[in-house]
Amino acid sequence: MTKPQAMYSSTRRQGKLNDWQIYRRLLGYVLPYWYLFLFSVLGFLLYSLGNVLLADMMQFLLDSLNESSNVASGIVSGLAYRLVDAQDMGRLEFARIAVPMAIVLLTMSRSLGFFIGTYFMNHVARQLVHELRCELFDKILVAPSAFYDSHSQGVLISKITYNVEQVTGAATKALKIIVRESLTVAALLGYMLYLNWRLCLVFFAVAPLIAIVVRVVGKHFRRYSRRIQASMGDVTQVSNESISAYREVRIFSGQAQQRERFRNASDYNRVQSLKLAFADAVSTPVIQTLLALALATLVWFALSPDILIGFSAGSLVAFLIAAGQLGKPIRQLSGVQSVVQRGLAASEDIFAQLDLEDETDRGSHSVARVAGQLTIRDLCFSYPGTDTLALDHVSLDIPSGKTLALVGRSGSGKSSLVQLIARFYQPDSGEILLDDIPLEDYRLANLRSHIALVSQQVTLFNDTVYNNIAYGALATASDERFLDAVRAAHADNFIEQLPQGMNSILGDDGGGLSGGQRQRIALARAILKDAPLLIMDEATSALDNESEYFIQQAMQSIMRERTTIVIAHRLSTVERADTIVVMDKGRIIARGSHAELLQQGGLYAQLYHQEFSS
Ligand SMILES: Nc1ncnc2c1ncn2[C@@H]1O[C@H](COP(=O)(O)OP(=O)(O)OP(=O)(O)O)[C@@H](O)[C@H]1O
Ligand SMILES: [Mg+2]
Repeated sequence: MTKPQAMYSSTRRQGKLNDWQIYRRLLGYVLPYWYLFLFSVLGFLLYSLGNVLLADMMQFLLDSLNESSNVASGIVSGLAYRLVDAQDMGRLEFARIAVPMAIVLLTMSRSLGFFIGTYFMNHVARQLVHELRCELFDKILVAPSAFYDSHSQGVLISKITYNVEQVTGAATKALKIIVRESLTVAALLGYMLYLNWRLCLVFFAVAPLIAIVVRVVGKHFRRYSRRIQASMGDVTQVSNESISAYREVRIFSGQAQQRERFRNASDYNRVQSLKLAFADAVSTPVIQTLLALALATLVWFALSPDILIGFSAGSLVAFLIAAGQLGKPIRQLSGVQSVVQRGLAASEDIFAQLDLEDETDRGSHSVARVAGQLTIRDLCFSYPGTDTLALDHVSLDIPSGKTLALVGRSGSGKSSLVQLIARFYQPDSGEILLDDIPLEDYRLANLRSHIALVSQQVTLFNDTVYNNIAYGALATASDERFLDAVRAAHADNFIEQLPQGMNSILGDDGGGLSGGQRQRIALARAILKDAPLLIMDEATSALDNESEYFIQQAMQSIMRERTTIVIAHRLSTVERADTIVVMDKGRIIARGSHAELLQQGGLYAQLYHQEFSS
């Protein structure tokens, strides 16, 4: 059993971006909405000023009670005395009217500030998350095939769901708290500096200690976050597999194994989350203690006779209240660190993926319809990350409108050849020409518009039968052409028998259909495309004899009008081909007509007797 530790170590350090690059890129998403961001910051500024001024009110209240001559020295009290002529009123009498009014006004503006700050910050953050998620998804649509060979589905899905969610947390919750609480801290400190700057020095002495704690803990948070993230990928992956392969799991008694893998991944996740929670739970009290020490020292100094001289009782209380109020925002700021680090770790991973190269598409050639003449010259290809040649110096000529049948043992390179024609992979050497123009010179989308493909593994979408056939660019096909294609693929009979006919929803990947039915839907889709190049990878292997017969009839007319490559397992297809090419170990070892090849003996004759003769 692989130890979880080792299992995730490779995924731990994918991101090569440093923190500043991550911040800068995240900021790039926010920049177009700078005015909303500014608005939000102003809102929070209003909120934090409200907080400070509410502390300042204590001075007003206390000094009015004492009938102190310093009563107008505070911010609120000073403003009140300046705005209202209170000559003939007693101090207490004035405070009785002014303080409640100030409380109401301050609370109202603080609430308004809170609303503006929170709402607009969310606006910006949600936009960021939305764009990040869409970019990540778009990447899936343009990633090269090799990307899919080297990434597991579950991990990719978990990036779009879990990782983006982490950024959401950081962007919505954390950003809001950071802006709001930093402003509050700044406003409180500013107020305290204004009241007595020397006393504030105590706080500045503790600040570096707090900074060190935050930094150390932050590093740990990031490390745990990366591991949690990687293990979430594994949790998704194992679940995904167990769902889609539930039959295999049961028949081959894989439950224990799947359970063990899931438990391991989930347990690793639990341990790392717990470590994160530990660091989180330790850091906050440590910071609190440091603050309390600072506050204690502050009180000690504040009550010293020298300092008391310059202070009214009200100002002293207001100062201490402001100092005491510092605790909450600082606690919130340190508490939000784990969310921030999780978001940063996720962004790092997301950006690393966004930075992967797209499918190469450098060609500029574009035509409405090709004639369909294929020339393959000395083609060599090995799958990325392997060094065995899947295609070994393959040369072929397929004149336009002709049919080529590829036969050969399993693993001989038939599907690989076809994948290269659709440019899912780049050849190592040699070239493929379509109508005498190298494939790379075509714009990728244009090239693929000339190809209809029925691949070895039929893929259907969780949608209606109709939308599965008229998929993508085919959605605009006329009803007449649509029905023709369905009939040609011999799919009309069974579709009529489905509960909602054409509008029946196929489950995930066509669940609820038989293998042959799925193939016929894929075939109808390919026929509807009416492309000059038709490629079928064993499209007829899962059909009963009767369907096979009808399809062969239909195929005859379809093949006549276009260049067709069939990877064949059935005699009827092979016989009808203009040329048959026999592949073995990535090489073409024989070519000719059915009769010629049979006469030659060799692999074809052998395959014929094994497979086709039945
Ligand atoms: N995505 C991939 N990554 C790495 N190697 C691959 C990949 N797909 C196929 N191969 C390897 O390339 C070789 C040729 O495979 P290919 O799929 O072309 O065979 P095939 O002739 O289509 O076989 P079959 O009749 O079984 O479908 C095989 O050795 C296979 O292991
Ligand atoms: Mg194959």
